[in-house]
Amino acid sequence: MDKIVVEGGSRLTGRIPISGAKNAALPLLAAALLPTGASTFKNVPQLADVRTMAKLLRMLGWTVDEGKTKTELTIAPPTGKKKPKLEAPYELVKTMRASVLVLGPLVARYGRARVSLPGGCAIGARPIDQHLKGLQALGATVSLDHGYVDVTAKRLKGATIVLDMPTVTGCENLIMAAALAKGRTVIENAAREPEVEELATVLNKMGAKIKGAGSPLITIEGVDELLPIEHAIMPDRIEAGTFAVAAAMTRGDVLLEGAVPEHLDAVIAKLRASGVTVAAEAGGLRVRGTGELTAVDIITQPHPGFPTDMQAQFMVMACIAKGQSVIREMIFENRYMHVPELGRMGADIHIDGRVAIVKGGTKLTGASVMATDLRASASLILAGLVASGKTEVLRVYHLDRGYEAIEKKLKAVGAKIKRAKQ
Ligand code: EPU
Repeated sequence: MDKIVVEGGSRLTGRIPISGAKNAALPLLAAALLPTGASTFKNVPQLADVRTMAKLLRMLGWTVDEGKTKTELTIAPPTGKKKPKLEAPYELVKTMRASVLVLGPLVARYGRARVSLPGGCAIGARPIDQHLKGLQALGATVSLDHGYVDVTAKRLKGATIVLDMPTVTGCENLIMAAALAKGRTVIENAAREPEVEELATVLNKMGAKIKGAGSPLITIEGVDELLPIEHAIMPDRIEAGTFAVAAAMTRGDVLLEGAVPEHLDAVIAKLRASGVTVAAEAGGLRVRGTGELTAVDIITQPHPGFPTDMQAQFMVMACIAKGQSVIREMIFENRYMHVPELGRMGADIHIDGRVAIVKGGTKLTGASVMATDLRASASLILAGLVASGKTEVLRVYHLDRGYEAIEKKLKAVGAKIKRAKQ
């Protein structure tokens, strides 16, 4: 297994290219189960989670081929006598919860899907009751046996679905299912994340009739068939946000190439409130950490609120900022697993339920720390960039799930960072 070794103290300057978005790529790959022929995606990030989704699609009987560049994937349905397999097994779902995204497309197109229940994960319980409730509203029969959820429907029928909370993958599953249902579906309290909008854009390219994605009310007129498309995946707003924090913390000056400022409004607002200079430029977003960082309070919320996927990174920034920050994690109940590791580097953070109180002004010191989940891993690297001496981030596979070549990108802008054998 690999580890990442960081020597703190370098100022980051230069340009960082932002890769395709993980959380857009995963539903889009699942959406490739819907059309009648082969679809091609460009700007696909090189990530363990994307490879897991590709593996799942292959297990279902689809072919997934790399194009001339590794960032291009073509996904084609089974042909001839080959029948699709309609099951996502536990071995895959347990390594990646987003496997559940095949549920909607498979039921919509083939009338059945059997998917292992994901169970809890490092950051919280994360049930899929809203996905299932929505599919039931669309007329599907849902049963549970041996840890699997079995969903069947001859043809889904449009319905009004009011989500209890704006779940991102839940909403994506239901949009994909409703795209091929008979009649009109309305999803109320829908997730407004840019990745949901991206999925709707791609499905519309395929011939779906979806309106309102990006708002809390999405309307889908079902169609009988979807056609193959070609699409370049949007840039990863969380990767961009993570590097923005790296630039701010190291008092650097970095252009995040391809970053879309409108996807990052809440993050940019908090960076500016901390004293960081952020400017949209042709080609991306420039982030400059000029003066002293000041403490800001954060409440994570569904989009367009502050993203939970940026909470750990801002917590590290809060450790070195002037003053005290109060952070409230409102999406996942257990997303503070980086806190004890940061404590080993000298951070002063007090947790009380969903609230974290971070005392700023800490001089972090390098240490060996354990990555516990994807964004926690990124936060430990950020801490290493400003800590005195050497930081080793162990269990790097979490990082490889969602950050493409993070050590290479950081090294190219001046960080002393390398990957080594653990
Ligand atoms: N929830 C339910 N029931 C459901 C669905 C969700 O109670 O049926 C709850 C969850 O437990 C959570 C809240 O609703 O408390 C929101 O969860 P959501 O369903 O929106 O999360 P998700 O779709 O499983 C996606 C991203 C996550 C990101 C969250 C929140 C993908 C593949 N994953 O997860 O990304 O944190 O939305 O924005 O899109 C990451 O990239 O590190 C990551 C964890």
